[in-house]
Amino acid sequence: MNLNLNRTEFGDPRNAGNVLPPDEALALLQEWVPNERLQLHMKQVGGVMRAWALEREGLPEAEAYQWWLAGLLHDADWEKYPDQHCRVIIEELEQRQVDPAILRCIASHGPKYFGVEPVSRMDKMIYAFDELSGFIHAAALVRPTRYEGMDVKSVLKKLKTPSFAAQVSRDDIQDALSRIDTPLEDIIAFILEKQPAIS
Ligand SMILES: [Fe+2]
Repeated sequence: MNLNLNRTEFGDPRNAGNVLPPDEALALLQEWVPNERLQLHMKQVGGVMRAWALEREGLPEAEAYQWWLAGLLHDADWEKYPDQHCRVIIEELEQRQVDPAILRCIASHGPKYFGVEPVSRMDKMIYAFDELSGFIHAAALVRPTRYEGMDVKSVLKKLKTPSFAAQVSRDDIQDALSRIDTPLEDIIAFILEKQPAIS
């Protein structure tokens, strides 16, 4: 399956600053993603992206909203159009005249697959958060107390266990980390702090 988008330009620069309002974004999620587990994953990535933008990047609410939106919608077409994943949601958001930075961020969440290199901080962080957020949720689900009492060390240990959540690419996580100056432990701790409250 070739998911390469074969493009480096996204959207129309005149749409800079345009977003979908929350009700429209959540309606799109409901309509396109019947799988509740996938919906939750997308909400989790959106939630940690927004919190990170506000607390770690010191960005204003309007910019943090863009981080949320990109995270929330990054897998919107995965369930219905697996063989055109990323292409369909980007074209949809292009039609809805969404800010090119958000489109580019969504396209950056898998450089190996979509052929788009993360450039902005938002691009790089979605790449790092996507796999790690999913991995940590998988790790929480196998614990009797779920997120409660979970620590960074236990996540690091599970990451070193190839058979655990084997579908999560450790190479992608390494690659994402190599593009940012934030240590893995820091990102894991942040996800552990924010993710349990996201539903
Ligand atoms: Fe994802």
